[in-house]
Amino acid sequence: MLKTSSTQDIAKRLSPNSAVISTLQTEGRGRVGKKWHSEEGGLYLSLNIPKPENSQELLSLTIGLAVAKLLESFGLNPGIKWVNDIYYQDKKLAGILIENLKNSSIIGIGMNVNQRSFPEGLNASSLYLIFKKEFSLKEVALELFKNIFLCLKELSESPEEVIKEVSKRLLYVGSVATSKNLTGTFIGISQNGSALLKSGGKIFEITSGELKF
Ligand code: BTN
Repeated sequence: MLKTSSTQDIAKRLSPNSAVISTLQTEGRGRVGKKWHSEEGGLYLSLNIPKPENSQELLSLTIGLAVAKLLESFGLNPGIKWVNDIYYQDKKLAGILIENLKNSSIIGIGMNVNQRSFPEGLNASSLYLIFKKEFSLKEVALELFKNIFLCLKELSESPEEVIKEVSKRLLYVGSVATSKNLTGTFIGISQNGSALLKSGGKIFEITSGELKF
């Protein structure tokens, strides 16, 4: 067991191009001030990378793509919920948190791997609950790192390809979504990864916060 407070805080103190892996966090955090349930069985990792030029939304979606591809290699067909969630059959399997320092981005990924249950009220699932077998956290982490490396390379060489690949896996396209005080139809993502909401014949770009479907 590799116990930490939050891998995000440790990764922030490291130099770019390093990573921290943990199997239990005491202060795991998610987006918009939420807590990330981080009991044993899950995989919690953070990478410190040189800050890319792309938007934070596109970076988050790129990492989501890497996680989705990993799940696809296990035979699943996951979906990406803008901007940081990975779902399988309406349950959350992984979440992504990006925090920025001056010159680096701290990418945090929480993945539900071997958990046998979740607290009531969490709409989550794990690989164990889907496949009824345990996965090696080390192997899952290694494969995930490989995918992240490949997807970040694609982001720097051809971001439009990343957009295309994310769009194929995007959940709730065509559904009504609300962001702060705007409600409209979610029609997809822009070239910089913002969510596009159509309302009253106009298209609005959403770059921060959450979309409620
Ligand atoms: C979310 O869905 O809101 C994002 C969750 C991100 C959780 C990961 S676990 C590893 C890293 N350390 C943390 O404290 N948070 C991220």
